[in-house]
Amino acid sequence: MYNKSLRPRRMRISPAIRDMVRENTLSPKDFILPIFVVPGENVKEEIPSMPGVYHLSVDNALKFAREAWELGIPALEIFGLPEYKDADGSSAWDMTSPVQRAMSAIKKAIPDMTIIGDVCLCQYTSHGHCGHLEGHYVDNDKTLKLLQKVAVSQAEAGVDIVAPSDMMDGRVAAIREALDANGFINTSILSYAVKYASGYYGPFRDAADSAPQFGDRKQYQMDPANSREAMKELDLDIAEGADMIIVKPALAYLDIVKQAREHMDLPLVTYNVSGEYAMIKAAARNGWIDEKRIVMESLLCMKRAGADAIITYFAMDACRYLQEGGCY
Ligand code: PBG
Ligand code: ZN
Repeated sequence: MYNKSLRPRRMRISPAIRDMVRENTLSPKDFILPIFVVPGENVKEEIPSMPGVYHLSVDNALKFAREAWELGIPALEIFGLPEYKDADGSSAWDMTSPVQRAMSAIKKAIPDMTIIGDVCLCQYTSHGHCGHLEGHYVDNDKTLKLLQKVAVSQAEAGVDIVAPSDMMDGRVAAIREALDANGFINTSILSYAVKYASGYYGPFRDAADSAPQFGDRKQYQMDPANSREAMKELDLDIAEGADMIIVKPALAYLDIVKQAREHMDLPLVTYNVSGEYAMIKAAARNGWIDEKRIVMESLLCMKRAGADAIITYFAMDACRYLQEGGCY
């Protein structure tokens, strides 16, 4: 029966009360900003499918990092486009490549900013797969040896955290072993433990020039239909020594974020991927949605689902929105 004295609306009656009882909030400290570093100098080219996201040469990447740091963003994740590609993606561990140079330059200029290196080979291999090929088969265990080199080179370049995004089995243990053997005992591993084979990565693959030249990534990335499998992936990466976990993508996978939160106690990050970004930008540009509202609502809901931090191309926009006020 309807009891007229029970009125949840009382706790929503004014902005001040809503502020007082709000369970989750956003802060610049929640955000990790991905950047794309390219060869050359003074390059700043907008990525067509990701308006507001740029290809940056090392000099401009540093400027961007400073801007992000001044907005209060504590961490960057660095992706890159190399000068050359080959079968095993050897430019991924080339210390003279734009990615490693950007890592060193930013670490030197802004030592307190957390620098995260994306460890994967697809941007660096001529075939666009995330590992070593035997025919058309991505060889898991041979790939591990290459990932070890990438992780160690990024640690040498000064990253605080390496983030393997390839989804090979056993990579967290392999990378931990290589880092430790090279003295990088304090370099952490942020594992993309739960990464789905998702159509939402489309704009990123244009941006990073990393689309596979044949086939797809469904043998190594997860099936969107599965959630129990996600818990298995988490358990394995935790056992192998992951320090933090990523669930990716974010919006269509918030149930997985929630399950991961309940399943384990490591810091949990979700990746608000390129397709999610592009959809919001496109609708906003058409005047169909209120960009600020939708961006802040989406990010807040990722927190509510249980994320401790969010990798998002909206990071700088969101910080500016927070400064303007009127957000959560
Ligand atoms: C590489 C990688 C991908 C993303 C980050 N690292 C995509 C892929 O599997 O092709 C996607 C990020 C995004 O869509 O924003 N393994
Ligand atoms: Zn990859």
